[in-house]
Amino acid sequence: MAELKDRKILLGVTGGIAAYKALELTRLLAIEEARVRVVMTRSAMEFVQPLSFQVLSGQQVCTNLFDLEAESRIGHIQVATEAELAVIAPATANIIGKLAHGIADDYLTTTLLACTAPKIICPAMNENMFKNPTVQENLAKLRSWGFLQVGPDSGDLACGVQGLGRLAQLDEILELIYQVLTPPSLKGKRVLVTAGPTREILDPVRHLTNPSSGKMGYALARVAKRRGAEVTLISGPTSLTPPHGVKDVQVTTAQQMHEAVMAEFPQKDAVVMAAAVSDYRPKVAASEKMKKDKGGESLKLERTEDILFRLGQLKADQILIGFAAETENLLENAREKLQQKNLDFIVANDLTAANAGFASDTNEVTILWPTGEMETLTKATKEEVAKQIWDRVERLWQR
Ligand code: CTP
Repeated sequence: MAELKDRKILLGVTGGIAAYKALELTRLLAIEEARVRVVMTRSAMEFVQPLSFQVLSGQQVCTNLFDLEAESRIGHIQVATEAELAVIAPATANIIGKLAHGIADDYLTTTLLACTAPKIICPAMNENMFKNPTVQENLAKLRSWGFLQVGPDSGDLACGVQGLGRLAQLDEILELIYQVLTPPSLKGKRVLVTAGPTREILDPVRHLTNPSSGKMGYALARVAKRRGAEVTLISGPTSLTPPHGVKDVQVTTAQQMHEAVMAEFPQKDAVVMAAAVSDYRPKVAASEKMKKDKGGESLKLERTEDILFRLGQLKADQILIGFAAETENLLENAREKLQQKNLDFIVANDLTAANAGFASDTNEVTILWPTGEMETLTKATKEEVAKQIWDRVERLWQR
């Protein structure tokens, strides 16, 4: 369940105002039960106290290379070699420059030079500093050596201006940490996931839709990406942020989703259709807001394309997974869709169950196989359900 449990992460904190955000990152990693070893530069300690990191990480914080007592308890080479991943957040222009030039003049630089684990660098600084050719060249050098860079983001900067230079969102940094530390069981696979609702336009201010939040589809995309797959996410309108490193295609209508899926399908090894695609659209989309005194009280609708049915007809050796969202006769209806749409398995979702289905954080599903076999999974988070679904896709590939 918890990929980060007991994983040894070295968190390098350098001296920028965003250093306070590294405290929250430490807390988030501690919640995941990771073993975080914080290493701070002298300037970082001007912004935040080592004690705060020590309390949050539950481990001694490393600050002074020449502290004989601390060094005899846990030496910097031991810190370097035991780390499974090093994250430098925030990374100042100074640390980026030092790392690009092999300078080792404090605890963090010395440890990072001796550390062979993967490294994530999270720059945060003033926009002009970030855009300076020296910083850009140093970062390019680090990336060419395998450092993974996340951020910076644009927004309000501490120097009072708006621009590029904010530390990346902690969610994004955490997601990249997951991607590095999760076993890459889907490496080499190209997968397509659809998510969210569609909106069928009635007039410029109204549409037909459903309450799908996209959470199940986004969890599927996130888990596949963590497992090393090349992931395309085609999503209807949601409030969610696509996972780091996923190809994100945003659509509105069923027609747009259909076109986007068809364009991606030929290059894919597996497709999971988690989107709640509208089956009908208004026959005519009015170009102006419809007035209540005009037109009748009945809407003329027409069918949209059944995307999954079409994929089932086209599929060669791709794996095709569908969802069945039902309010009655769950298994019977799901079995019919499994067969009609030519799927490898279907995930049946009872929309009437408590804490399952649309917008919920958890889901309770039954998986139906063409052989007639059936598996009812216990209620779990959508992320856990996504893992179970990919486990089964992986098993199909292993056969
Ligand atoms: N689906 C699709 N295109 C549509 C409608 C549904 O690709 N126009 C996909 C969904 O993404 C899902 C599966 O088909 O994976 C089943 O969707 P569901 O809404 O449960 O069923 P429908 O096939 O639409 O049938 P019905 O509405 O009659 O239950």
